[in-house]
Amino acid sequence: MQLCEQYRPHCWGEVIGQSKALRSIDLLRRRGLTGRAIWISGKSGTGKTTTARLLAEEVCGGPECWLWGDAQEIDAKGLTLADLVGTKDTLGLLAEINHLGIGPNHCRVVIINEADCLLESVLKALRTLLERPIAPIPPHVLWIFTTTREGEAELPDSDFRQLIGRCSKVPLNTQGLARMFAERAREIATIEGLNGKPLPAYVNLLNDCKGSLREALQRIEGGEMLGP
Ligand SMILES: Nc1ncnc2c1ncn2[C@@H]1O[C@H](COP(=O)(O)OP(=O)(O)OP(=O)(O)O)[C@@H](O)[C@H]1O
Ligand SMILES: [Mg+2]
Repeated sequence: MQLCEQYRPHCWGEVIGQSKALRSIDLLRRRGLTGRAIWISGKSGTGKTTTARLLAEEVCGGPECWLWGDAQEIDAKGLTLADLVGTKDTLGLLAEINHLGIGPNHCRVVIINEADCLLESVLKALRTLLERPIAPIPPHVLWIFTTTREGEAELPDSDFRQLIGRCSKVPLNTQGLARMFAERAREIATIEGLNGKPLPAYVNLLNDCKGSLREALQRIEGGEMLGP
């Protein structure tokens, strides 16, 4: 297994440098994490997918939610309108998630990664769904969109802005992560017998990877931080 997958946080306490985002999630938690859509933004390798998966596992009642099919992760580029709304022969995702989940909480979570790449037709359908005045999202369902696009202004058109406007926003921290990520990367490298350099070398590595802990771990796996 790749280092970055092996060391992906399994619980909220293992997520590094995202305390502000975790506080926002805490506020959402108080009002209920389901019956809504959450828009998670942040730079590559800073914890978007990790956060989305932890949310899914919490909402559905455990990491088995992927096996149960209660939680699913989809790449926006591969999602067609037919997948979403169905055809005369197939049930689309929107109809499918109306059924309660089979796990203990009976919830369903759909994570759409790289949401800025949604096809226009799919985007319009999702926007229409979220615009419904009454019960736009069933109370047992959570939609999560993740994207590296930082803000609404960076997104291509008004359909996107309207979709985001209906989501609870969780922007991840992208500043000042290098040192925290460098410390974690060095810790992991040490455990794996791949460390031969002092902390500043890891800070440089993180900067070189534009702050992506995933990329840094991939380079460590390749032996880059072994002795000089
Ligand atoms: N905040 C974090 N705390 C702990 N580990 C992290 C964090 N962010 C990233 N990682 C590490 O990097 C790996 C990749 O993180 P993740 O998949 O969450 O990034 P991402 O933001 O979704 O990136 P991308 O935009 O490329 O999809 C994780 O498996 C984990 O090892
Ligand atoms: Mg991701």
